[in-house]
Amino acid sequence: MKGIVFTKFLEMVEQTWSEDFADELIEAVDLPSGGAYTAVGTYPHTEMVSLLVELSARTGVPIPELLRTYGRFLFGQFVTLYPGFFKGTSSSLDFAASIEDVIHVEVRKLYPDAELPSFKVIERTPDRLRLRYQSDRHLGDLAQGLMEACITHFGESDRVVLTRENMDEEGAPVCFTLQRTTAA
Ligand code: HEM
Repeated sequence: MKGIVFTKFLEMVEQTWSEDFADELIEAVDLPSGGAYTAVGTYPHTEMVSLLVELSARTGVPIPELLRTYGRFLFGQFVTLYPGFFKGTSSSLDFAASIEDVIHVEVRKLYPDAELPSFKVIERTPDRLRLRYQSDRHLGDLAQGLMEACITHFGESDRVVLTRENMDEEGAPVCFTLQRTTAA
């Protein structure tokens, strides 16, 4: 897992709780890396799991909720760090439809060893997008937070509804639907 996922996670912890709390968290968890993350480094995915387990135990916030909150925070960071990725796209449906073939393709150019999920478009109409998320890392909650923030980013919270279903297949894929509504 790329270091940026860890550095931004710890930034969220610092901003939500405090720097001291983030330091305590790192010290409480037995991290092979020692917790000294750099954005371009690559670290075991299990370190993120350990940090989430500890954060959840200390705050009482369930892990899925922490991951969704983090997804929303991370999307905002992507907007600031990579404005070029957002140029030329004016809707959350168009943006989300391009994750697999455009966005994460560019991400792979920046970070050749990135472990990226699969985001297949399974249905696309002008008002509806269905995506099938699959990853060995099972970060459907993170994906949900990223999608929610994507809808907010494009100013569509009042007219695009996100729903999620867990699909009854091997490997626990998740299906996300972005449905445009008629509300103004
Ligand atoms: C709605 C938009 C997006 C969604 C839903 C999404 C989803 C995800 C998810 C769920 C992961 C975790 C890895 C996994 O599940 O296996 C991931 C990884 C990642 N994504 Fe995206 N992503 C989005 C947009 C972006 C954008 C705009 C960028 C950067 C400009 C980006 C960069 C990355 C990076 C760097 C990783 C880490 C890869 C690694 O740990 O090796 N993503 N993405």
